[in-house]
Amino acid sequence: MMAQNWNPTSWRNKPIQQVPDYPDMAALNATEAQLATYPPLVFAGEARRLKATLGKVADGQGFLLQGGDCAESFAEHGADTIRDFFRAFLQMAVVLTFGAQQPVVKVGRIAGQFAKPRSSNIEKIGGVELPSYRGDIINGIEFNEKARIPDPERQIMAYRQSAATLNLLRAFAMGGYANLDNVHKWMLGFVKDSPQAERYRALADRISETMDFMAAIGINSENNHALRETDFFTSHEALLLGYEQALTRVDSTSGDWYATSGHMIWIGDRTRQPDHAHVEYCRGIKNPLGMKCGPSLTADGLLELIDILNPANEAGRLTLICRFGHDKVGEHLPRLIRAVEREGRKVVWSCDPMHGNTITMNNYKTRPFDRILTEVENFFAIHHSEGTHPGGIHVEMTGNDVTECTGGARALTAEDLQDRYHTHCDPRLNADQALELAFLLAEKLKSGRDEQKLAVNA
Ligand code: PEP
Ligand code: CO
Repeated sequence: MMAQNWNPTSWRNKPIQQVPDYPDMAALNATEAQLATYPPLVFAGEARRLKATLGKVADGQGFLLQGGDCAESFAEHGADTIRDFFRAFLQMAVVLTFGAQQPVVKVGRIAGQFAKPRSSNIEKIGGVELPSYRGDIINGIEFNEKARIPDPERQIMAYRQSAATLNLLRAFAMGGYANLDNVHKWMLGFVKDSPQAERYRALADRISETMDFMAAIGINSENNHALRETDFFTSHEALLLGYEQALTRVDSTSGDWYATSGHMIWIGDRTRQPDHAHVEYCRGIKNPLGMKCGPSLTADGLLELIDILNPANEAGRLTLICRFGHDKVGEHLPRLIRAVEREGRKVVWSCDPMHGNTITMNNYKTRPFDRILTEVENFFAIHHSEGTHPGGIHVEMTGNDVTECTGGARALTAEDLQDRYHTHCDPRLNADQALELAFLLAEKLKSGRDEQKLAVNA
């Protein structure tokens, strides 16, 4: 059923937050018209497949791993950056698959994650005030007047970078690079070099034994495509709605509208007003949707948004990405879970342990690893006690060896932040920290399963 009174432009009649101030509207319109003639980046059938897979997660039969840059940048568009991200991400996925003993749905914050909501329209450095940086798809990060002017041409560049990134990711996923033997080898390398090697070895050894067993009975990557290839999907925040509209297309198979800028798109915590433009745009497209849930979301507010975004109560349509903070998740998550359960709404519950845990140290925005881990642990414990499924995690990470989040096995300090602080927006877990999080989480998932087994046997 088509959403009522909806079309790809209907968001334009609603109030809207976080809109860039384009000085040349004619140029903006021309760019959007041009983008509308370009090929889709993803296909509706792929988005449907992701939605069906997320539907299983909503039913408790899978786990969502979503992660990538806070903001992709034009400057960091090398093959190595994409490869290293993918390599770290796949290792996390294998470790989590083993911990959860469930399929892990792999969704990158990549190939389209360019537009950033900002808490202030203005950035001030040493008495100079300029418009805030809003992501490479809108303006430049350099702190000068010219760079900060929104430039529509950047949308074309973001589209082309997304296409190239996606092309490489598809090749990695299907062309042999994502082969489980490779991922296993990388993971063993990580464990060997980690200061926490002892702790991670038990789980790594059990994965190795499982691989040896499969090889012994004749299942290998040559004769089994599941060991040779992987499903990988893309996602980003649907913030810049003119760009999203230009890539919104009718699927010829179903006659439905799809966002073709990425497989899954989400609504940010700052733009989820039920009567505003971002919710209006998202309700009409058939992709799987995410919605960020922060401390200001009430139970009734959530139910109202679920009614708008998922009126048919379709499992897999809506992922609630919870980002409360390590010390606030206990206060906010239970009431939301209870409201959703009471009303019988099907959602995927995912934990974003990044955005509620940002602090400033030595003038750098950072996130202590311990707080990130604590929020995820609390998220799991709360779902455990509510009897609901902790369906996934959503992290900001890179495959590079950056120093943006403190802590982790290598105990990065506030003084280390200046060494390799490269992010264009929020601080990301580096490859080691991301994998550590996966290992620590896999331990949790496994002990949760052991407890359930004990309960069943008792
Ligand atoms: C983000 O995911 O980078 C982001 C801005 O998140 P949120 O909307 O949760 O603040
Ligand atoms: Co962010």
